[in-house]
Amino acid sequence: MRTSLVEGIDWVGHIDWTVRDFHGYATERGSSYNAYLIRDEKIALIDSVKDRFAAQLLAHISDFVEPEKISYVVCNHAEPDHSGALPEVMKICPDAELVCNAKCRDSLAKHFDTASWKFKIVTDGDTLSLGKRTLSFMNTPMVHWPESMFTYVQEDHILFSMDAFGQHLASAYRFDYQEPLDTVMEEAKKYFANIVMLYTRPIARVLERAAEMQIEMIAPSHGVIWQKNIGDIITAYEDWVAHKNRAKVLVIYDTMWKSTEKMAIAVLRGAQEREIDARLIHVRATNITNIATEVLDSAAVAFGSPTLNQTLMPEMAAALTYLKGLRPSDKSCVVFGSYGWSKGAAKDIETYLNDMKFNIIREPIQSQFAPTQEILEECRVAGRELADIAAKGDDG
Ligand code: FEO
Repeated sequence: MRTSLVEGIDWVGHIDWTVRDFHGYATERGSSYNAYLIRDEKIALIDSVKDRFAAQLLAHISDFVEPEKISYVVCNHAEPDHSGALPEVMKICPDAELVCNAKCRDSLAKHFDTASWKFKIVTDGDTLSLGKRTLSFMNTPMVHWPESMFTYVQEDHILFSMDAFGQHLASAYRFDYQEPLDTVMEEAKKYFANIVMLYTRPIARVLERAAEMQIEMIAPSHGVIWQKNIGDIITAYEDWVAHKNRAKVLVIYDTMWKSTEKMAIAVLRGAQEREIDARLIHVRATNITNIATEVLDSAAVAFGSPTLNQTLMPEMAAALTYLKGLRPSDKSCVVFGSYGWSKGAAKDIETYLNDMKFNIIREPIQSQFAPTQEILEECRVAGRELADIAAKGDDG
């Protein structure tokens, strides 16, 4: 298996085949924590892995060098999936300098006992010579945490991009061209939607700076390395950062006794009367990771919930709470749902949608118990209206 990016730079991370829940993110294809070893006159380790995989990291490093010969341990990001093994690494390499920015040093000190670590603090634009190679550092605050940075190998034009451009994808291979591109892009999109969608402005700045760099490989901290398809992932990020919508309508709903489900299907059928992509999502049959991914590029979304205990159903509340945190943008919406003796769900859904500054195109459609034919026709009309808006709002 190819682990070498170029002569002297190798992948030494860990493939996590079995993880299915990454702090709530449904990692259906597993993940990886990528670390990279640069062997030059000085040896540098770029990032580490989760704490419980420290032994695998050290074993991979040992395939190339004795770990204690590492001079620099670069930490691009303090989140524990990339820093968790640092205490073990720094114990084995007591003379190594931990290279990071000041915010990262402070963050690491709040996670670990760093008293004995030797820090080499770098800032944006700083360089570090390893001998024949030179590392340069680029602060990328909020991509994904405040202390995040990229590391770039000037001579090989390799960008170690940490979470950016990553995918939760366990693979037998290390490079993008070795997996079906559809699969890699699907996981990259899911990663963007669920991890960095709310940081579109910082990512846009990163993309502007990346456009000025010569890049022959993007080596993220999760998933495969971009080598042959760099243009595809950059273009996709540009679209996602710009909140480009597709002509797509989602109908997201929950139901108790099928009344709201009948309404959801009527909305869907209305949308399907137009030549657009219309999809039905039951919140209790679809994890929120995939719901967020679908919402990312949908122009229009209908949200439906029956009233339960004078409010919306709990899984719908969870989905909306999650979406609100991720800050999707520029969606047109309709709200619908059934109720028994008191209303409440529609109003509470609208509160979420208003918080997200979504465009609610009409009054909510509400049905006391089972929907009548008139109410179902109203749902169908609403579906058509959403489809018409989605078709006009298609950003290509
Ligand atoms: Fe993969 Fe923000 O850590």
